[in-house]
Formats: sequence, C-alpha cells, structure tokens
Amino acid sequence: MATTSKTILLFCILISLFLISSAQSCSNYTFSGTKIFKSCKDLPYLQAHLHWNYIASTRKVDIAYRATPTSPGWIAWAINPTGTGMVGSEALVAFLNPNGSMTAYTTQINSYNPSMQPRALSFEVSNIRAEYSTNEMIIFAIVGPLKNGTTVNHVWQDGNSVSDNIPQMHSTSGPNIQSMEKLDFLSR
Ligand SMILES: *[C@@H]1O[C@H](CO)[C@@H](O)[C@H](O)[C@H]1NC(C)=O
Ligand SMILES: *[C@@H]1O[C@H](CO)[C@@H](O)[C@H](O)[C@H]1NC(C)=O
Ligand SMILES: *[C@@H]1O[C@H](CO)[C@@H](O)[C@H](O)[C@H]1NC(C)=O
Repeated sequence: MATTSKTILLFCILISLFLISSAQSCSNYTFSGTKIFKSCKDLPYLQAHLHWNYIASTRKVDIAYRATPTSPGWIAWAINPTGTGMVGSEALVAFLNPNGSMTAYTTQINSYNPSMQPRALSFEVSNIRAEYSTNEMIIFAIVGPLKNGTTVNHVWQDGNSVSDNIPQMHSTSGPNIQSMEKLDFLSR
C-alpha cells in the first residue's frame, strides 16, 4: 500500500511539473506594453523562446528573443546566412549593465573567438533594444528584408559574464553547443 501511495504521489508530482512547464509555453506569454507577436517557438535548448511577426509585404521579421541565463550575463540570437552553427552567424547580442540598463547591438561571429565588438550585419537590423526583468532578458528587433526565403539557420547562446562591455566566452558543452536549428518563419 505504501508503495502504491508513493507511486501515486510521484505520478501527481510529474503531472504538476508537466502542467507547470506547459503553462510557461511561449504561446501564452504576454509582453509588457502593447506588443503582440502572432508566432512563437519554445526553442529546444537554453530555456529560450523566439516570438515573431513575419511581414510578407516587406519580407521583414519583427522578433523578440527571450531567455533566462543562469546568471545575468549576456544573451544572443543569430542567423547564419551561409551555413549552420556559430561561425559565420550574424548576431543580436544583449547584456545587463551594472546600472540595470540593457545594452543591445549587432555583431558578426567570424571565428570561435570573435571580438564581440559592434558590427553591421549583411542583412538589415533596425529598432534593436533589450529589456531585463526578474532574470529574463529580451532582445527586440526588426530583421530583414530576408534575402533568401523565409527559412533560416538560427543559433542562440548565453554566457555568464561580461567584462569591459564585452560578452565573455560561453560554456562549450551540453546545450550551449546544441543550440541551433533550421526555422521557417511561415511555419507557425
Ligand atoms: C497556456 O495555454 C495553454 C494551452 O494553450 C493553457 O492550457 C494554459 O492554461 C495557459 N496558461 C496560462 C498561464 O494562461
Ligand atoms: C541562400 O541559400 C543558399 C542555400 O541554403 C545558400 O547556399 C546561400 O549562401 C544563401 N545566400 C544568401 C545570400 O544568404
Ligand atoms: C547605464 O550604463 C550604460 C553603460 O555604461 C550607459 O550607456 C547608460 O547611459 C547608463 N544608463 C543610466 C541611466 O545611467
């Protein structure tokens, strides 16, 4: 009997965990202010979520990338226009300043040891800004026109430290080296 109650208890805990995690899915996340995104995806690694509106008439994508780094270091979301993975990707980066404001900018990831200095990208990025609230960071931006259809190889990342305004090396194991995939902006 004791074993049965333990099994039932474990089952209830698992169901609650499932309900809690499904309740946090991107589709019912509400942004502060009046911002509404029609599409979103819970990304499979690094507790990250991408929200977007694809604007067919301009081939631009209004995006919000949300992530909760383990310590408030930095987050990044990137498109790799010519390949897959980190090298060659073109990134939107944000980090928390000591005074509580967020810095957001674009940079090119041209090697495994990129400068992380601000750089223009091969595609347009406008209205880039970032927010921070209770450990969660959000990068907002308008990306495009997309040159090559609506499917992109994207990559995302986070790291725990920023030194002299330069995001420092991220972890090089586990989810931090798996966080990439193909995404069609028309798929959701
Ligand atoms: C989120 O949406 C799911 C279904 O889409 C719903 O079951 C759940 O109650 C929602 N959670 C919140 C917190 O609104
Ligand atoms: C367009 O996509 C093709 C096939 O994925 C790729 O080889 C090419 O480099 C891309 N061009 C640009 C400008 O992104
Ligand atoms: C906070 O710090 C950043 C980076 O040093 C600076 O650009 C920004 O102006 C500061 N904001 C305020 C409100 O002091």
